Amino acid sequence: MAQTARWRGIIDAYRSYLSLPADAPTLTLHEGNTPLVPARHAGRGADLHFKIEGANPTGSFKDRGMAVAVSGAMAEGARFLVCASTGNTSASAAAYAARAGLPALLAVPAGDGAVAQGKLAQALAFGARLVLVGGNFDQALAAVRALAAARPDAALVNSVNPLRLEGQKTGAYEVVEQLGDAPEWLCIPVGNAGNISAYWRGFCEYRQSGRAGRVPRLIGAQAAGAAPLVHGREVDEPKTLASAIRIGRPASAHLARAAVAEADGRFLAVSDADILEAYRFLARREGIFCEPASAASLAGFWQAQRAGLIAADQRVVCVLTGNGLKDPERAIAEGEPTVRAEPTAAAIAAALPPELRDA
Ligand SMILES: Cc1ncc(COP(=O)(O)O)c(C=O)c1O
Repeated sequence: MAQTARWRGIIDAYRSYLSLPADAPTLTLHEGNTPLVPARHAGRGADLHFKIEGANPTGSFKDRGMAVAVSGAMAEGARFLVCASTGNTSASAAAYAARAGLPALLAVPAGDGAVAQGKLAQALAFGARLVLVGGNFDQALAAVRALAAARPDAALVNSVNPLRLEGQKTGAYEVVEQLGDAPEWLCIPVGNAGNISAYWRGFCEYRQSGRAGRVPRLIGAQAAGAAPLVHGREVDEPKTLASAIRIGRPASAHLARAAVAEADGRFLAVSDADILEAYRFLARREGIFCEPASAASLAGFWQAQRAGLIAADQRVVCVLTGNGLKDPERAIAEGEPTVRAEPTAAAIAAALPPELRDA
């Protein structure tokens, strides 16, 4: 891998591996090259590592795909970008659109808690046009696909755009480079099913080129109330507190099914309670603050471990797809109660737990 000091984003690092038109510019915010951090406690005997995708420029893995998709859109002379989003795609599209000097039209589900506040703030800060759609993500995606089909001057930057997956497969390249080979298992949250498909492509390409000696088995973790790939049928009204993966009709379902079958993997449904347990554990025991949807990967790993699918000493990577700051309301709701005090040493020290109150 390129040295961190010289890192200039995934297109610079991997252009010859990406099916990007030769005349496409390199539009980058220096995305990628994210940390792979070993777990201290969460592995429970396994050699577990976390791929921290929240360290990307807009705080999620979407930046990998967006860099490539927007570079491609520029090469094609697109006049604006359009997407539907549960929040992270819109934040990323807005940032790369700003950098490219293109307008961005973002369709997100309206309604309380449909999109986490941090993601809305990002889209607005980058100056994008935000459209609150009276429907869920699946309906918004169907609408923007129709819009893009009727407007040749628009670039649709959802993961149905093949360049998005091209960019996102670089996450798998990095995992191989960071570990020296593919792990035995990769656990990843699944919503619209693009990212798991992209990772699989990346691992297969690296094995074919001899850079990896093996491919991992895959765990695709879906929220129990939004688990079409676990149950084999689309979900009309997906429900979960993990709004980023509240998706009932995954656009890349066919690719993800093929990937999980080839990888001898599993789709697993994790409950909201399990997602929150993993979310709190990551923050409080590992010092890693991700958003709830990302914690589904750890919840999926624990479930697979309990079921005996993953053996005690195997090497596992959980992809933590987005930064915890995306969803400040959830973090505050899950936090310990705050304490008020007068500005004196004694009053502040009184907030310590009893066993620490005396020196
Ligand atoms: C934080 C986060 N994790 C996971 C996902 C799921 O990725 P995909 O839709 O590619 O399955 C998303 C999608 O929006 C996301 O924002």
